[in-house]
Amino acid sequence: MDGNGRWAKQRGLPRLAGHRAGTENLRRILRACVELGIKILTLYAFSTENWGRPEAEVRGLMRILEDVIDHELPELHKEGVQLRHLGDLSRISKKLQTKVLNAVEMTRNNHQLILNVAFNYGGRAEIIHAVQEIVRHGHPAEEIDEALVSKYLYTGSLPDPDLIVRTSGELRISNFLLWQAAYAEYYIAPVFWPDFDKEELCKALRLFCQRDRRFGLVK
Ligand code: FPP
Repeated sequence: MDGNGRWAKQRGLPRLAGHRAGTENLRRILRACVELGIKILTLYAFSTENWGRPEAEVRGLMRILEDVIDHELPELHKEGVQLRHLGDLSRISKKLQTKVLNAVEMTRNNHQLILNVAFNYGGRAEIIHAVQEIVRHGHPAEEIDEALVSKYLYTGSLPDPDLIVRTSGELRISNFLLWQAAYAEYYIAPVFWPDFDKEELCKALRLFCQRDRRFGLVK
C-alpha cells in the first residue's frame, strides 16, 4: 500500500492524513475483492523497518490498526472476513496484541475472504522465525524441505500468492513475502495507494489473466 505519504504531501497534508486516506481505500478494495471472488488478500501494513520512521507516524499507524479493529471488526465479521496476522506481535503494546488476537479468534471460522494483515512483518524476519521454530521442534536436517519451511512461515498452510500488487510505481520487493513470492506475478500500479480504486484493481487482474505462468517449465 505504497504512496500514502506522497499522496498527503501533494495535498499539503501531514503524512498521517495519507495513511488515513489509505485506510479508507482499504475498505473499498476489500469490498471489491469480496465482490470479485478473491479468496485471500494480504496487506503489507507495517514492516519491521517501519519502526525507524518518526515516532508520531509509528504511533499513528498503531492507532490506525487499533481503530480499524475497534470500528470495523463487526462489519468485517458480518461480511465473512477471516482476519489473520502475519508478523511479530511481541513488539507492539499488550493492549493492541490482545485486540489483534481477539479479532483473529472471533473471525477464525469465516470463509468469504482471508485477510492477512502483515504488521511488524518482514520477509527475512519471517524466514529466521521459521528456522528457529524448525530447530525448536527438533526436526533433523534430512526432514527439512520446502513444504516444511512453508509450514513454519507466518502464512502456514496458505497457498503462495498468485499476484503481488505494489502501488505508486516503485519497482522493489521491500522485504515482502520473500519466500512465498517465488513464482508470484507482479503488477506495479502507477497511482498512490489512496487512489488505487476498483478500476485499477480490475486492470491488475486483467493483466494477470494474460500472463503466461510457466513456473520454470516449458509449455
Ligand atoms: C506505505 O506508504 C504505507 C505504509 C507504510 C502504511 C500502510 C498502512 C495503512 C494504509 C494503514 C491501514 C492498515 C491496516 C491494516 C490497519 P508510505 O508511507 O511509504 O508512502 P510514501 O512512500 O509516499 O512516503
